[in-house]
Parts: sequence; C-alpha cells; structure tokens
Amino acid sequence: MPKGKKKTSKNPHQNYRQPKLIKESEPSAQPKPHKRQMKFQRPRGMRDILPEDMTYYDYIYRTTENILRSYDFARMETPIVEDIGLFARAIGESTDIVSKEIFSLKEKGGGKLALRPEFTAGLVRAYIENGMSSRPQPVKLYSLGPLFRAERPQAGRYRQFNQIDFEVFGAEKAAIDAQVIQITWRLFERLGINDTVIQLNSVGCPECRPAYRQQLLDYYRPYANKLCADCKKRLKANPLRVLDCKEEKCQRVAANAPQIFDNLCDDCHTHFKQLLEILDELDIPYMLNGKIVRGLDYYRRTVFEIWPAEDKKSELAQSAFGGGGRYDGLFELLGGQPTPGIGIGLGVERIILEMKERGIEPPARSAPTVFLAQLGEKAKKQSFRIFENLYKAGIDTLESVGRDSLKSQLKQAEKKGVFFTLILGQKESVDDTMIVRDMETGVQEVISQEGLIKYLKERMEIREKEKSKEAKKPVKEKEIEKK
Ligand code: HAM
Repeated sequence: MPKGKKKTSKNPHQNYRQPKLIKESEPSAQPKPHKRQMKFQRPRGMRDILPEDMTYYDYIYRTTENILRSYDFARMETPIVEDIGLFARAIGESTDIVSKEIFSLKEKGGGKLALRPEFTAGLVRAYIENGMSSRPQPVKLYSLGPLFRAERPQAGRYRQFNQIDFEVFGAEKAAIDAQVIQITWRLFERLGINDTVIQLNSVGCPECRPAYRQQLLDYYRPYANKLCADCKKRLKANPLRVLDCKEEKCQRVAANAPQIFDNLCDDCHTHFKQLLEILDELDIPYMLNGKIVRGLDYYRRTVFEIWPAEDKKSELAQSAFGGGGRYDGLFELLGGQPTPGIGIGLGVERIILEMKERGIEPPARSAPTVFLAQLGEKAKKQSFRIFENLYKAGIDTLESVGRDSLKSQLKQAEKKGVFFTLILGQKESVDDTMIVRDMETGVQEVISQEGLIKYLKERMEIREKEKSKEAKKPVKEKEIEKK
C-alpha cells in the first residue's frame, strides 16, 4: 500500500459510521449537535407522507381507479429511472424540466440514468419496447406514483411529487381528446371539486406550426430586450413558450401576440372544432386560451390544463391541477411506428391541498366488526390463535397485542367504533372462554372460545336484518320513533 494512503475496505458498509441518533428532548440536541450526534432531515423539497395524509392519497387513487377502469384503462408500471436521453429526446433539451430539473445518476458502465420527471416518455418507450402496437388498439394505460423534478420548493411544488397519469395510444379522433377531458372533469367532480375549468388550446402540427413560429419571432423581435432572461433563451429555442411565461413584463408583451387559432391548417382546425362540439354536447365548461402551450415539447394539436375556477383560485393554486394533450409524433421520435397518443398528468398534492382548503375529507373507512383485547401473558399468547381463527372466518378484527393495559385497549375499541369487543382476561384464558361486549348496548356475555365464531356470525346476521328492516321503514315512522 502506498505511503500515506489510508486503508479502506472494499465493502462500503464497513467504512460507514453509524450516526448516533439523539432524542428531541436531550439538551445536547440543542443548536450545535456534536459531530457524532447527527440528526438527519428529509431531502430538500421532499416530504414524509404521514398516515393521516395517506388517507387522502388512498381515497384519490381509489376514486381514480374506479373511474378509469370503467373506461377500460389498465394500470401499468415503468421503472422510476430511465436512460436520461429518453427524457431529453421526448420532452426537449431546452425545456426547464430537462435543462434544469432532472435528478441524474451515474451508472457503473458510464451511462446516465434520470429519476423520471414525468410518466408519458416512459410509457411510450415501454409501448414500443414491449410491442404493444400488436394489441387491439387503442391501448389505454394509467400510472400512479412518484415523479422527481429539482424545482425551487414552494407550496404545491415539490421535488418529489405524485401524479395520476393516463394515456390513450393508437387513437387519433377528436372524440378521444374529448373523452380524456371528460374523465378528468368527472374525477374532480367525484372528489367534490365541481367547479374546475378546462383551459384549452391547439398548438398545431409540423404543417402549420413553423409559419406561426415565424409570426411570433417577427412579433417579438422589437420587444426582445423587454423579456426576462429565460424568455430571451426561449425565443431562440421555442418561441411558443414565451407566451406562457408567468413574469409580468413577458405577459404584457404576450397580450397582443398573434393567436395560433388564426393560423391552424385545415386538418388541425377541423380536429379542434370537432373537439369543441363534443365538449359542448357533454356540457363540460372550457375556456379557449391561446397562451396554453405546455412546458414539454412533444405536444401536437390539442393541449389543455385543468384549473380551479377563477374566483376560487387560492394562493396555493398558482398552477394547474393538471395538464396534458396530444403528442402524435412522439412514437417516431422514440424509434416506434407512427402512433397517435393523448393523455394527461394530474398533480396529486395539488388536489389534496385544494380538498383541504375546501374542507373535503376522505370518507372514513368502515369500522372493523370486532376488537380483540387481552390481559396477561397466557391470554396474549392465546389471542394470536383466536385472531387467526377470526381472520380465517372472514370476521374483520382489530388486534391489540402491542398494548398491555386493558383500560387503554377498551378506550381504543371505543375510538374505533367496533360492534363487539372480545375480552380475554386471565380467568377466561384458563377456562377457554371469552367475554363478548356489545358496544352499542353495553351488555356482556361469557362465551366458550369454541363457539365464538358461530356466536358472532349469528349476532351479525341479526344486526344486518335489523338494519335492513330499519332502512325499509317509511321516513314518517322513523321520525315518530325518534320522538
Ligand atoms: P406537467 O404539466 O409537467 O405535465 O405536470 C402535470 C401536473 O403535475 C401539473 O399540472 C402539476 O399539478 C403536477 N406537478 C408538476 N410538477 C410538480 C411539482 N414539482 N410539484 C407538485 N406537482 C407538480 C406532464 O407531466 C405531462 N407528462 C402530462 C401528460 C400526460 N401529457 C400527456 N400525457
């Protein structure tokens, strides 16, 4: 070994010094912790999703999947990382996402991977790679999960966020554009956000866009010095992007810029007109907005975003709930056969912020039927077997093996709103019985452990019958009984 060189092991774990975690309340946790008393924090712009927030995610995903499955979409997963070149080619080298926001990783062989900043490019790559063009078309897919963009963190903008993304591959008719918009609209309605607005535009196609691009360049030339630094660059790479810059000075110049609607070729014009006719038929409120151009380069023809209603726009909702559009040329760009495609990505965190702001809570899950409480070592051991038997019999049961105090277990049972609490004390564990407490009436009975499942099933059946009898009673009769 050369002189002066420290001996290091090839095993990376061997050189790793376990940080000593310290408790919040310890005095040494105060301002300057000792080097070895390290305290870790989550990465900047990334969040821990605590159980109380997970209920929003579960509810939003459940609702989305119910709707998407009824429109024949199938869930698909692609890797969280892809070759970095895929995103550069699909989204565009000069876009903010690719030029500033990609998290990249070096591969051992020298290649570069990127944490996916969006779903569409990966799904198109997978469609081509897995020969999905031989399946009956259109292929309707959706993905749910985390994406990564190294943006400046702020409310509703994170470096790891979640999207609901759905795509239709292999369908070119305007009716499909309308269907994607209709599903989006319906999803928000189901979630209780029923005053969203769809902002709609067409960005044309390779036939009509170059002439419009030139018109924009001619228009912007005298104003070039009045634009922000980013827009000066955008003007060279993609002048359409200057239209949707959020800087006030750029918006002032954009106000009188030529409109793309006046420059669409006949095919793009017909496609857009057909889409608007269907949306009118479906009664979906939309606003035409020539400044919606989207921050990704693959779009062609229809583009759209879904926004909170203008008067409901909160400070948090500075950006759209979601956006999408058509990208018919993307498949060839990524080495596939010409295939039309359209889809949308919805930001789950933005939806949750909006739900919270409006006081919309995910519906509470129905309570389990039974709570199994135990006291003493023998009872605790027995309760494992009893829990297993209840589970096998299909009785929804909550166990509490982790708790010792009977009082705290009974409190927990009350809080969870179960129908029955089963109490297995020291005496019961010796004579193979069990106390069954009806949580509504407070009546307790001692039952043999052997007959427990039969007993619970009978009691549940009686309860169900009473419930359906009650539901059938005329409203008047119920009111009299209440009085
Ligand atoms: P996008 O507009 O880049 O489109 O993202 C869609 C939505 O994802 C945004 O409207 C927003 O709600 C959410 N989002 C984006 N960045 C963040 C962030 N840093 N933090 C929180 N939420 C964020 C796309 O991703 C396209 N792939 C959509 C698409 C699908 N187009 C066709 N098919």
